[in-house]
Amino acid sequence: MVALTVRSEDFTSSSRLTIKSQEIAEKTTAIRSLDWDRDRFDIEFGLRNGTTYNSFLIQGKKLALIDTSHQKFEALYLEGLGELIDFTALDYLIISHTEPDHSGLVKNILNLAPQVTIVGSKVAIQFLENMVHQPFNSLMVKSGETLDLGNGHQLEFVSAPNLHWPDTIFTYDHQTSVLYTCDVFGMHYCDDYLYDEEPELLTEDFQYYYDCLMGPNARSVLAALKRIQNLEIKTIATGHGPLLNYHIPQWINYYQQWSQAQAKSDNLVVIFYSEDYGYSEQIGRNIAQGLLKTGVTVDLVNLSETDPHEAREFVHEAKGLVIGMPSQHDPIAQTALQTILASVHGKQAIALFESGGGEDEPIFPLRNKFQEIGLTEAFSPILSKNAPTATTQKLAEEAGTDFGQWLTRDKTIKQMKSLDSDLDRALGRLSSGLYLITVQKGEVSGAMFASWVTQASLEPLGVAIAVAKDRAIESLLQVNDTFVLNVLEEGNYQGLMKHFLKRFPPGSDRFTGIKTHQSSNGSPILADALAYLDCTVTSRLEANDHWIIYTTVQTGRVSKVDGVTAVHHRKVGNHY
Ligand code: FEO
Repeated sequence: MVALTVRSEDFTSSSRLTIKSQEIAEKTTAIRSLDWDRDRFDIEFGLRNGTTYNSFLIQGKKLALIDTSHQKFEALYLEGLGELIDFTALDYLIISHTEPDHSGLVKNILNLAPQVTIVGSKVAIQFLENMVHQPFNSLMVKSGETLDLGNGHQLEFVSAPNLHWPDTIFTYDHQTSVLYTCDVFGMHYCDDYLYDEEPELLTEDFQYYYDCLMGPNARSVLAALKRIQNLEIKTIATGHGPLLNYHIPQWINYYQQWSQAQAKSDNLVVIFYSEDYGYSEQIGRNIAQGLLKTGVTVDLVNLSETDPHEAREFVHEAKGLVIGMPSQHDPIAQTALQTILASVHGKQAIALFESGGGEDEPIFPLRNKFQEIGLTEAFSPILSKNAPTATTQKLAEEAGTDFGQWLTRDKTIKQMKSLDSDLDRALGRLSSGLYLITVQKGEVSGAMFASWVTQASLEPLGVAIAVAKDRAIESLLQVNDTFVLNVLEEGNYQGLMKHFLKRFPPGSDRFTGIKTHQSSNGSPILADALAYLDCTVTSRLEANDHWIIYTTVQTGRVSKVDGVTAVHHRKVGNHY
């Protein structure tokens, strides 16, 4: 085994970056960029265990590199790679997809190895042309096509669109039976261990990653699984986290089960996004994240790659549609849009968003057309002129959650009525206090009434809170996130209750008109609260339709020594 470790010059305890290279099969080396402390990927994706960006070298008669690394690893990665290869001898750079955490150093590789041929799907090569702004040799590959590196290393490509980018391909090496999947089957987990020896340590991160990245494309996941089902796979070389080697059937089975469960829901929302700088897809993904919290199925579809037949099929199956405005000069997207308009019917719901670009199809005339056909608008158009900010992303997520709750409301009412009445009443005898969770994270804020709150540990002092999965605030309560738990006072909470229980439009400021102070962790303390606690999320336990959020408490204060906590008595246990 070849091992090489390079440590960042500017190594600090708050941003540890290291590189590790290890042989994983015959003439095959993994180069793992270990990002020990990264704590967030996009607004909705909190990380607990850092992440890795994995890249691979295959030496046949020809030399191929699969993916690169994140730009933050520029010096480390190029130095490490330079110790393994002579750049002028690099024949191919295979790009699994073009998201910058894997293709952030393509331009550097092109400068060091101008002779290299970049291999990718047609969409990936087109994206790269816009990213690197310089000519390069390229080879576009389709599913089933092969590339012979010599010495038995026959590479076969498998198309996996929408997992989770439209341009994704897998690469399978027939010599070593390694399947290179980049994001797919990955997890954000940073550790010295190369492989999945202890799956019980990894499953939670594996599932969280699936929920955030793959869940919105469950049907595409099933299609990709079908394409790889006949391959003999010894190792799944992922782009994030440990490589999968010891428990491959289990990991594949999880993807199969979760995707089947997602795909069979009778509430399908199709989100059509357009090709721009990834902004449209980002907003579409935020809306999807909000929708998924409510248990509906979501399909994210690239309008620029959808033929009329596919567009019609998607519309026929969907209860709701979300459309990101495409360019007026994108003929494929325009044809798909016309097909959608001709296929929708008045019982469906519709929502529109735009993500910038003066050449986009105008949003309001299109909105009028859908309304004339009789579709219900699920949320007001989201208008974003530039790269989506954290506020826009949060607004999009909340709009998705509202949409999902509206679609599933009949089912929810039915479930509430179906509980056994004795059980229902008995459960209702559990009582609790009344609290308000408040969060400020950068420009994004949130608030939620909570009653399922209890002290959960003495050393350290800790509290557990149950938060429904479809609550907008849930994505701000990831591990290491901080918030304030406000304890409400008996006889002095009705005003707060009236304010915070009303329905807020997506993205609106919950604190307008409410008197607050800032706590040491940056979140608002309600001036009318009886007491408050500064909390840091330590772990999360999935409890079907809720998350149990366990937090440690750092500081706290009581405003009235003789004040009494408001108590929540219920008659029935099947709702709050
Ligand atoms: Fe890990 Fe889609 O990038």
